[in-house]
Amino acid sequence: MANEVAAVYPGSFDPVTNGHLDVLRRASKLFAKVIIVASVEGRKKLDFSLEDRLDFLRRAVISFDNVEIDSFDGLLVDYARKNGASVIIRGLREVSDFEYEYQMAVMNRRLAPEIETVFLSTGSEYYYVSSSLIKEVAALGGDISGLVPECVVSALHKSKGEVPRQ
Ligand code: PNS
Repeated sequence: MANEVAAVYPGSFDPVTNGHLDVLRRASKLFAKVIIVASVEGRKKLDFSLEDRLDFLRRAVISFDNVEIDSFDGLLVDYARKNGASVIIRGLREVSDFEYEYQMAVMNRRLAPEIETVFLSTGSEYYYVSSSLIKEVAALGGDISGLVPECVVSALHKSKGEVPRQ
């Protein structure tokens, strides 16, 4: 039964956006528990510390009652196994997301055949919202309200002027 299944929703969340929260909201309706897990390391250099990224997540998910927050290092499937999650959630915005996501899903399946990756599409209003674009727009003084949680808007306004690393 899907409603007895625990899922992990991994990402860098550097920082969390309303697009991520849209995916989380959809996942939280489908699964008994969703653990949103921030990676300690990212594929790219991360702009926010792990502590900040977790703090934004904590504040942003306060209204979800079946969502937990954690961080992970090493292989995602090892984290999922240790924490009793049999599903990995990933959000898909547009076609260009697919290649990387498919590679990860197939690699994760090879590493842990019992764990399924489930792709959820974001609401169309978020298809252009990515953490890196948000940081760039904020650094250049653009309006990011409504695209990220309020705590992230404040943090990005404080660091305004610092164009993020790519
Ligand atoms: O938000 P991101 O940067 O797209 O998230 C990518 C992330 C952290 C989910 C991915 O890089 C990951 O799972 N890293 C953990 C290392 C791992 O398990 N690698 C093998 C799977 S391809």
